[in-house]
Amino acid sequence: MAPLHPRAAERAPVEGSRAPTLVGRVIGGRFRIVQQLASGAMGVIHEAVDQDSGEVVALKLHRQDAQEHQARRLEREAEAMSALDTPHVVRVISSGHDQALGAQYLVMERLRGMDLAGLLAPISGLGIDTVLRIGAQACLGLRAAHDAGYLHRDLKPGNLFLSLGRGGVVTVKLVDFGLAKPRDSAQRTVLTAMGEVVGTPLYLSPEQARGDRDIDPRSDVFSLGIVLVRCLLGRPPRDLGAGLLPFLEALCSEQLPSLCAALPHVPPEVARVIDRCTRLEPAARYPSAAALLAELSALIETDALHTRDLREHRPTSGTLVAVRIDDGETTRISTTPPITAEQTRRLFPDED
Ligand SMILES: Nc1ncnc2c1ncn2[C@@H]1O[C@H](COP(=O)(O)OP(=O)(O)O)[C@@H](O)[C@H]1O
Ligand SMILES: [Mg+2]
Repeated sequence: MAPLHPRAAERAPVEGSRAPTLVGRVIGGRFRIVQQLASGAMGVIHEAVDQDSGEVVALKLHRQDAQEHQARRLEREAEAMSALDTPHVVRVISSGHDQALGAQYLVMERLRGMDLAGLLAPISGLGIDTVLRIGAQACLGLRAAHDAGYLHRDLKPGNLFLSLGRGGVVTVKLVDFGLAKPRDSAQRTVLTAMGEVVGTPLYLSPEQARGDRDIDPRSDVFSLGIVLVRCLLGRPPRDLGAGLLPFLEALCSEQLPSLCAALPHVPPEVARVIDRCTRLEPAARYPSAAALLAELSALIETDALHTRDLREHRPTSGTLVAVRIDDGETTRISTTPPITAEQTRRLFPDED
C-alpha cells in the first residue's frame, strides 16, 4: 500500500533528479527523455523533447511494474483530459504504448512551477483571499470535468498544479486524471483505490471511503473543500495519527466542525462556503463545481493569482518556513517566525 503518513503522502516529489536508465531514450518513436521531474503514486513524470516539433513536454510513464489494469488507467486519463478544453486542466498532447519499454505513456504540456503540496509542505497556511482564488480556479477545471461527465476522484494538493506563466502569473491546473471516470461507470471500492492509487486517504469523501458505487460531483466538491481547509488551517482537518481505521470511521460518521471553530479570523461568509463543501451528507453540499464556483466568486474580486499572492503565508513554528516557486526549484530556509520581508523577497522575487 502507498505511504499513509499525511505529510509524506502529501509532499511533492523532489524535482530534477535524474533517471539514468531512461534519460536519452526515445519513447513512442518521438519523445526523447531529458530528465525525471517527479514520481507519483502510479507514474513517473519526465521532461522530454518532442522530436517532431522541438517542444519541451512532460511525459508520464506508468511504472514498469504496473499491472495490466493499472496501465489502462493512463489510457483513461488521456481520454478524460483530452475531452476537457480549459486552461485549468493540464493539456494532453499525445498518448500511446511504447513497445520497447512495454509501458503506456501520456504526453502533456510541460508545466513550470510546483504543485500545491510542494508549496504547502514547508508552510502552515496561505492567506484567505489566495485560498479562495486557488479554489475558484480549481473549480473552473473541475466544472469542465463535471460538465463533460467526468469526476476527478483524486483531488488533493499534489494534483493541483500552480503553473507559473509570464510575469509571475500563476494558473491552477488540475493534473492526474488517473482515477477519473465517466460518472455512470462502476466505481471500485476504497481499499482498491487507496492501495493502488490514491496514496493518501486524507482528501477522500465519506462516500468514497465507504466504497459507494454511485459517487457524483459532490464527492469532488468534498475533496476540494478539504484541500481549501488544509490551505487555511496549515494541516488537513483530520489526520492519521490514530491510524487508518479510526480515520475512516470518523470520516464516514462525524461532521467536521465549522472552520470558524479552528480559525476565528476566517470571516463567517467564507467559513459558510467551505463548511458546505465538507458536509458529511452529499445532499448538504454544493451539487457541483459550478455551484461552488458561483459562491466562491462572490467572495473574491478576481481569481487572478500571482507569485506574490503565494508569499502571503503563515510560517510553521520554528523551522522550514518558506519556499521559492521558480521553475520547479524548491528552496527552503530555516528560520523562526515571523519570516522577514527580506527573506520573503528572496524567496518570491518579483517577476514584473
Ligand atoms: N505536465 C506536468 N508538468 C510538470 N509537472 C507535472 C506535470 N504533471 C504532473 N506533474 C508533477 O508530477 C506529479 C505526479 O504526477 P501525477 O500525474 O499526479 O502522477 P501520479 O498519478 O503518480 O500521482 C504531480 O504531483 C506534479 O507535481
Ligand atoms: Mg498525483
